[in-house]
Amino acid sequence: MVNTPSGTGDTPASRSPLATDQSPGTSASTDGDAPATQTQSVTFWDGFQAFATTPVAAPPPPGAPPRSLEERLAYHSRFVTVRTPAIDALAKNVRTLMILGRHQTVTARPSLIVTGPAGAGKTTALLQVGRACHLAHTRRHGATAAAGQVPVAYVLVPPAASAKTLATEFARYLGIPVTVGMSQAQITGAVCHTYTAAGVQLVLIDEIHRLNPRTTTGAQSADLIKDLTERIGATFVYAGIDVTTTPLFTGVRGAQLAGRASLIDCAAFPARLGDEEPFRNLVNAMEGALDLRHHRPGTLPKLAPYLHERTAGRIGSLARLIRQAAITALIDGTERITKTTLDAIRLDHLAEQHYQPRTRPRSRNTSTP
Ligand SMILES: Nc1ncnc2c1ncn2[C@@H]1O[C@H](COP(=O)(O)OP(=O)(O)OP(=O)(O)O)[C@@H](O)[C@H]1O
Ligand SMILES: [Mg+2]
Repeated sequence: MVNTPSGTGDTPASRSPLATDQSPGTSASTDGDAPATQTQSVTFWDGFQAFATTPVAAPPPPGAPPRSLEERLAYHSRFVTVRTPAIDALAKNVRTLMILGRHQTVTARPSLIVTGPAGAGKTTALLQVGRACHLAHTRRHGATAAAGQVPVAYVLVPPAASAKTLATEFARYLGIPVTVGMSQAQITGAVCHTYTAAGVQLVLIDEIHRLNPRTTTGAQSADLIKDLTERIGATFVYAGIDVTTTPLFTGVRGAQLAGRASLIDCAAFPARLGDEEPFRNLVNAMEGALDLRHHRPGTLPKLAPYLHERTAGRIGSLARLIRQAAITALIDGTERITKTTLDAIRLDHLAEQHYQPRTRPRSRNTSTP
């Protein structure tokens, strides 16, 4: 595991062992200022391209002029992406598999599955690696040569996917026209032809847990994916909720998938891992990205045990809690996050169900004499 935290959680945020992603090569000073310009969904090529090339949000560098309230509200609404161990592991594995499969033209290449509970950052990891691949392609070939090319595709498995609806999702990403009368084989043929012509190298398939190869439609969809992996010369990476405990890996199709895919675990952050404190370091990295005038660095890492209890170590709940607290602090003018600010925020249902404060007030019934 790279980026494994090694310091104590009380180190200043600027020395956090988990970096925040500031990769797409633009000066940090304007990153957070830009209003969100990307309107198209990443499940369309235009939207994905806009996502990949839009500068990421970043905290202001030291000495930069202060940003306005509006700019800082927009910044905390987008917020940073922390380079987590899962993102690191995925990035490394994708790079290796892409090289491994470069000259493998006949059979399907080895693939990866990002697995973990809901809200653990699977989609973020997938998109982050997709962005890196897109930018690397543009850097390697130059913007002009790369213009007609589509290095990365991102497709969501639709609910109750049939092979035809899934093939249509692939077509939609690249704007391949699909008419009512087209058969699944025709759509698949058009997809394979266009993806190959566009030079797609990395195919990201999200919500893979929606596929159930035990059902007839699910089995056909799984067969379609197998077909695509053999006909499009790309590396396939999937993401889904706890895939090892779903029917995805069962039966003949499941065995075919499991026989080719390695797992990347995108789990909740443990409070402790040996001598390390992965969750505290995550909190530290997020605190380091805040743009609040009176926030005292070190406040949030000190509250790591409380934050872990509230979020069950899930990055999605933690990011929401911290972003929401920052926006509250900006609106009420306190410009700092304290335990009181955090206490006042209600989180997602999953986190609230998990959280049992030790000092929960006793109900009136039990206190009546
Ligand atoms: N690396 C990260 N850095 C900062 N915030 C993150 C990171 N990963 C995830 N998040 C936050 O967590 C939220 C949930 O992440 P994401 O949608 O990637 O999770 P998921 O595992 O795909 O969830 P689901 O199972 O519901 O699809 C994101 O909206 C983002 O706010
Ligand atoms: Mg997701």
